[in-house]
Amino acid sequence: MAETLTITDNRTGKKYEIPIAFNSIKALDLRQIKTGEADFGLMSYDPAFMNTASVKSRITYIDGDKGILRYRGYPIEHLAEHSTSFLEVAYLLLKGELPTKKQRDDWRNTIRTHTFVHENVKKLMEAFPYDAHPMGMFISTIAALTTFYPEAKNIFDQGVRQRQIYRLIAKVPTIAAFSYRHSKGMPYVHPDNSLTYAGNFLNMMFQMGSSHHEPHPVLEHALTVLFILHADHEQNCSANAMRGVGSSHVDPYSACAAAAAALWGPLHGGANEAVLRMLDQIGTIDKVSAFIKEVKTGKGRLMGFGHRVYKNYDPRAKVIKKLAYEVFEITGKSPKLEIALELERIALEDDYFVTRKLYPNVDFYSGLIYQAMGFSMDFFPVLFAIPRTVGWLAQWEEHVLDSEQKIARPRQIFLGEAERPWIPIEKR
Ligand code: CMC
Repeated sequence: MAETLTITDNRTGKKYEIPIAFNSIKALDLRQIKTGEADFGLMSYDPAFMNTASVKSRITYIDGDKGILRYRGYPIEHLAEHSTSFLEVAYLLLKGELPTKKQRDDWRNTIRTHTFVHENVKKLMEAFPYDAHPMGMFISTIAALTTFYPEAKNIFDQGVRQRQIYRLIAKVPTIAAFSYRHSKGMPYVHPDNSLTYAGNFLNMMFQMGSSHHEPHPVLEHALTVLFILHADHEQNCSANAMRGVGSSHVDPYSACAAAAAALWGPLHGGANEAVLRMLDQIGTIDKVSAFIKEVKTGKGRLMGFGHRVYKNYDPRAKVIKKLAYEVFEITGKSPKLEIALELERIALEDDYFVTRKLYPNVDFYSGLIYQAMGFSMDFFPVLFAIPRTVGWLAQWEEHVLDSEQKIARPRQIFLGEAERPWIPIEKR
């Protein structure tokens, strides 16, 4: 069987044989299809990248029809069940293999040496308005890190690259917690490197006075699982931002800030916050059907439902739904859970959602857990950004080392005016 595609251009009658590799054709191979010498050549038009693979990647695999998600070959359900450490999964995503015990300990110890932020980062954060959104503070502070580590621009130096990866993974929980403490007018708590990644983060968030915050082990474990589930998701909007911005060879702090900004939108990582606001707006279980009816008429969306890639139940949502019950055993059940369950029940039977293959996604239940654990709604996107930093960095490093990549620079179909003469102001 020939691994080629034969195209006949009906404008000219010419035939072209285009190679197929990895079940794809190269968009650039279309350029040879021309009507004449002056013709630029054929392009493919794909707004929102609905059918465009922009990278070859070995990190994360998704089969959206079957509801499969794997990091470096390991099913997400197995990682969530067996791994007790977020940093272990971070190592896997970045290095491609699960660490040996020694590799895990060395990796953890190195990350721990980078958890503190420069005192001037603290001062910078103190300057934000008292009611600043924590995600706004998070994004701005990540961007500001570039001013503290000018060496970061040497992205082709392996050692330099590695150091920025350590720094970012280590510092995002600190910056996240500081943004929360700032919005509450509470003093910042320094990292405690004797704790786990999630435990240290919870302590920086919730310590009062000098006594340590001792999270319930179930809640600390739940946060570790949530971090694992959110760590990467192949070429999503923020990973694409990380790669696109990084393709200009800017330093990783600037690219990471861009990725975090992309994550904040309600169609992406901001959806977990939007879900809770939606549940609040619905208010009581008897209003669920009326709400679904409104969604079906195009008035708003059922937040936490639907996905560009998953046309089946998001495997992360399955794990999170189960986790929610474990967390509620400790914290007490959220009254909003009943509304969410009813929304899911109705939506999964309703023709509108069934025919469009709209299922709960990762954000549908995560907010309920976060809220039960004491996080405020506006902090949810920050909770997403902490683990996703690992995915961004893995995607970025792969991109930097990919010899097929160049600066990301799409083309356009120009529909504006052709050249026209200048009109003096009195004649307009
Ligand atoms: N509620 C109601 N209708 C929906 C929804 C929804 N949540 N999602 C998609 N649709 C409809 C949409 O109106 C369209 O209908 P029609 O064909 O009649 O015009 C059809 O389904 C296809 O939708 P689309 O907008 O073309 O699909 P997309 O792949 O561009 O969008 C999405 C994917 C995730 C942005 C979208 O499903 C959505 O807005 N969901 C709600 C927000 C959300 O939960 N986002 C989190 C995504 S998962 C985590 C992450 O990425 O961070």
